[in-house]
Amino acid sequence: MIKRFCYDPIITTGAVVKDLPYSNGSPEPFTVTENGFTLDMDAKTRVYGLGETMRGINKRGWIYESRCTDEPFHTEDKRSVYGAHNFILIDGKDRFGAFFDLPGRITYDIGYTDSDFITITPENFALDLYIITGDSLKAIVSEFRSLIGKSYLPPKWAFGYGQSRWGYVTEDDIRRCADQYKDARIPLDMLYLDIDYMDSFKDFTVHPERFPDLKAFAAEMKERGIRLIPIIDAAVKKEEGYSVYDEGHEKGYFCKDENGEDFVVGVWPGKSVLPDFLDPEASRWFGQQYKALTDLGIEGFWNDMNEPALFYSEKGLERAIEEVQKIDIEKIGALDFFGTRDVLVKLQNSDSDYKSFYHNTPEGRFAHYDVHNLYGYRMTKSAYDALCELRDEPSLLFSRASSIGAHRYGGIWTGDNHSWWSHILQSLQQMPGLNMCGFLFSGSDIGGFNGNCTRDLLIRWMSFALFTPLMRNHAAFGTRSQEAFAFGDTEVFRHIITLRYRLLPYLYDEFVKAVENDTMYFRPLAFDYEDDEIAATIEDQLMVGDSMMIAPIYRQNADARHIYLPEKMTQVRMHEGEISTEELNKGWHYVSIPLGDVVYFTTSPIPLGEPVRNTSEVIWEKQDTEN
Ligand code: GLC
Repeated sequence: MIKRFCYDPIITTGAVVKDLPYSNGSPEPFTVTENGFTLDMDAKTRVYGLGETMRGINKRGWIYESRCTDEPFHTEDKRSVYGAHNFILIDGKDRFGAFFDLPGRITYDIGYTDSDFITITPENFALDLYIITGDSLKAIVSEFRSLIGKSYLPPKWAFGYGQSRWGYVTEDDIRRCADQYKDARIPLDMLYLDIDYMDSFKDFTVHPERFPDLKAFAAEMKERGIRLIPIIDAAVKKEEGYSVYDEGHEKGYFCKDENGEDFVVGVWPGKSVLPDFLDPEASRWFGQQYKALTDLGIEGFWNDMNEPALFYSEKGLERAIEEVQKIDIEKIGALDFFGTRDVLVKLQNSDSDYKSFYHNTPEGRFAHYDVHNLYGYRMTKSAYDALCELRDEPSLLFSRASSIGAHRYGGIWTGDNHSWWSHILQSLQQMPGLNMCGFLFSGSDIGGFNGNCTRDLLIRWMSFALFTPLMRNHAAFGTRSQEAFAFGDTEVFRHIITLRYRLLPYLYDEFVKAVENDTMYFRPLAFDYEDDEIAATIEDQLMVGDSMMIAPIYRQNADARHIYLPEKMTQVRMHEGEISTEELNKGWHYVSIPLGDVVYFTTSPIPLGEPVRNTSEVIWEKQDTEN
């Protein structure tokens, strides 16, 4: 059951697709205070949800902030990253879900200040609150998901494996990468184009020397079964003579400062302006720009920098430079130095900039700050709506920033993680929270984006990520190569990625079911085994679809781990491409998983397909073969 409570919203997110009447009374079990909502927790209470946040599956014991943040260091102390996902699910003496429909900032103190207390503080206390109850945790999630509409379903080929790298600059870099995958006989479906394919980082342009004929090149790759997936950044380069800028400027489609002038920021292209995705006309106009690339045969995109990420604003930079120039080199002390250094650092993604530009929405004019969490969501919607018009087939689309509502239009990836062991576990722990909030098509940068990857890290990461709907290896400029062929021996990677393709009939089917039935593809064990006290505490295993459980290794040099089986299951092991099975009883097991082996567990047989080179060869109907 869903009850809707009114706290005089000025603007909501548009995430909710059902028009429910308001309920009278108080939103029990919450207590309403002057600043928000509180709830006391008993010792056993567990808290789930909040989508793409740091830390565990059970969110108790930390403070989180709903604020789309361009955060390149995903350390445990961070309160927010790129997504702002306002659904929480409380499982204790009270069991219910809550969705806070507000595009501004909300703080969730979940046993951080007082370990027995939840305090939820919307910065601007003017919102709609939905309280969702049901017979089980899964039922509450499904009820919530029915409130926010069906999740995005990508084309089948998007479930293949993709290689990306910020640093493939030319057509030849991409071709060489495709060749190396082919030589190593490793399946591949997508190669991603990062910002270097553009001309001077201008959206919807192609660098004339690096990709002299992108249409022919895309066709050549497609012939080989590989799709090119270019990046699109939110900000548009401010350059007269660049048609996207000229037209958007003339029509007033960019966010304005308080004087009605385009607000100028610095991002990859240098001085840039921000399309007003909250203005339906501007949003539609931006979406139509994708045609420049769909006309060249492009079938999918990743939308980036859409928190929006701001390196600086023109005005902020002017002020900062003035301040830096005041330094007296003769007299500077240590604290002055650090203060001065921070003057520039603080320019990035600053609240004062977010407060200085405005959106034209159907509900009126809003300072960006108050509707901040809608920006990435509406960019995804802009692209999705246009791609539905521009193309007859479904397109691949995923984004970095998001809030609930965006799940209807695209997937998300979890942004700029690191080549750290802890980030395998972090990615695993983010998946169920994202699924609760409707984001089913998701995954992390395999091997880690920042920092240098190692062979063993990549093997272990892939052994987990082969189960994530979005399976993409991506790395930052200047980092060590981490393609599946980069570490010499390719066989181990071939076996793991091949297993992904062999499992696709199952994984895809389960994904489609989750979309259609508003269910979760990834679930904490607690959701399937509600009466099992041990299952409820498991933070490093997940249920995948109806009949699979995974328990990957995420520690350096570990080659075995404890795994909890909440019921009798079949252990399936892939060793050097060969599959073997073993029945295991309910309870704890210490399972050896040498590097390169992939182990998963099934509650009923999962047929495997034949090894293939890419998704065009997959037989999607489940075959009756081995486990
Ligand atoms: C951002 C993205 C990253 C991309 C880079 C360059 O950091 O998150 O994936 O490679 O920008 O475009």
